Amino acid sequence: MNLTQQYTAEDIQKFLVSNLAEAVELSPEEIDVKENIGNYGLDSTQAMMIIGKLEKLLGFQPSPVLLWNYPNIADLSDRLAEEYQDNSELQHIDKISNHNINTPSLLDLGAEAILDPTIQPIGNYTGSITHPQNIFVTGGTGYLAAFIIKELLLATVAKIYCLVRADNISEAKNKLVKNLENYAIWDDQYQERIIPIIGDLAEPFLGIASAEFANLAANIDTIYHSAALLNYVYPYSALKPANVLGTQEILRLACTTKTKLFHYVSSIAVFESPFYAGKVVKEQDAFNHWEGIFLGYSQTKWVAEKLVKIAGYRGLPITIYRPPLIAGDSQTGVCNPDDFLNLMIKGCFQMGYFPDVNYMLDMSPVDYVSKAIVYLSTQEKSLGKAFNLQHPQPASLKYLVEWIRSFAFHIKMIPYQEWQKHLVNNVTSPENPFYTLRPFLLERWSDEQLTVPDLYLQDKRPIISCAETLEALTGSGVVCPKIDSQLLTTYASYLIQSGFLSLS
Ligand SMILES: NC(=O)c1ccc[n+]([C@@H]2O[C@H](COP(=O)([O-])OP(=O)(O)OC[C@H]3O[C@@H](n4cnc5c(N)ncnc54)[C@H](OP(=O)(O)O)[C@@H]3O)[C@@H](O)[C@H]2O)c1
Repeated sequence: MNLTQQYTAEDIQKFLVSNLAEAVELSPEEIDVKENIGNYGLDSTQAMMIIGKLEKLLGFQPSPVLLWNYPNIADLSDRLAEEYQDNSELQHIDKISNHNINTPSLLDLGAEAILDPTIQPIGNYTGSITHPQNIFVTGGTGYLAAFIIKELLLATVAKIYCLVRADNISEAKNKLVKNLENYAIWDDQYQERIIPIIGDLAEPFLGIASAEFANLAANIDTIYHSAALLNYVYPYSALKPANVLGTQEILRLACTTKTKLFHYVSSIAVFESPFYAGKVVKEQDAFNHWEGIFLGYSQTKWVAEKLVKIAGYRGLPITIYRPPLIAGDSQTGVCNPDDFLNLMIKGCFQMGYFPDVNYMLDMSPVDYVSKAIVYLSTQEKSLGKAFNLQHPQPASLKYLVEWIRSFAFHIKMIPYQEWQKHLVNNVTSPENPFYTLRPFLLERWSDEQLTVPDLYLQDKRPIISCAETLEALTGSGVVCPKIDSQLLTTYASYLIQSGFLSLS
């Protein structure tokens, strides 16, 4: 008898409630099965952990794309139970695959890019571009914005108001300080300059009480909007409240009472449509094509940047910064160990195999990205422009593997299909990051039924030009460090010292 046939929708619901509650540190009673799962703030790793456990429970691979149509636990459990009634595992997988092909085409990203018509700047910007006094930053409890805050603390004397999700001010301040400490940025002398503002991107008016919103609107000069929900599993619908509607609310703040400078952290993912594959895309090029962008996260970045552009057409002074993957600090190696690239490297390391693929390490060190953003944001000629913070000389994955091998590690590069088989058959330990990343890596997308790694192979990607950005940085002293043995040694040393990578 197939044990997996015993589970009902109710069982699956209980399982999801208990695992979600554990992941987000709530009691099961606090989980609302009708609430959009995206609102619980799971990161990709947590989401993949739950999917990995669900896969074990059900005996088949539930598609993360199911969340697209069934975004809450109640509906998702009912759907999974239906899938489950079907006779064979193969039928399940076929059904889910068909789902994948059809579902994304329902979404018209062009139609999503509509900015509330009441968001209109009031006159010209009258503050200082070079010496802002009051700055509003989102994402200060995350990776990149921590380094943006560092550069702003050094380059200005401004007070920095940080949007933080928290229950009270002391929790918000602790969250900010702890994050800045983690990235070796915090210093007690910053106490007075960093001011938490409790709020949530996914709420109208950022969930900020009207008097405080009005106060911010009247006093802030410049906004750096870096916050987003980075999750490679969730569909567009789950990420839209924070990433798209949240950007709209920040634009509302930028236009209320007085016009503010608006600096938006976007992503090179806005050029992810196959339309741009193999084409050179420059900073000021239009990015009208969205068809074939499959990741919900990338879809939200495309729509959000469009909203920012619309606000720019209405007269808001905007500047857009598009990082590629953000790697560690080039001087200290400090990084976000849970980012996708680090997990991939750790996973391949533990497996003993890297896929032999034509893939460029599309990464820029976080100190370069943050320094470039802060320098460019204080230049008048940057207004209205976009900047690609792409590494000017990306290195290939093969270069990284050769570098690892030079230390006599037994790492092999094997054909991609073979690597995928290893992933399916031999990655059985939850200790390997691929254990939880498997559903994401093996999921088939697009009419061609390609996996995510397939979709990101070099010939499927655009050639991102950063020539205008480098030109704008000339004379600033901000230079993107080379991806060479020295940089990789700095990164590896940090990852080993922090216990993330083990050599045994
Ligand atoms: N990391 C990359 O490789 C990369 C590459 C290209 C572009 N980017 C862009 O760079 C920006 C920063 O990325 P990151 O790596 O620094 O991300 P991160 O470390 O995951 O930080 C995300 C930040 O956004 C906040 N946030 C998420 N949902 C929110 C909500 N509903 N309300 C208020 N704040 C919310 C988080 O707050 P909590 O602490 O409360 O969760 C956190 O402070 C993002 O816009 C991202 O799209 C990143």
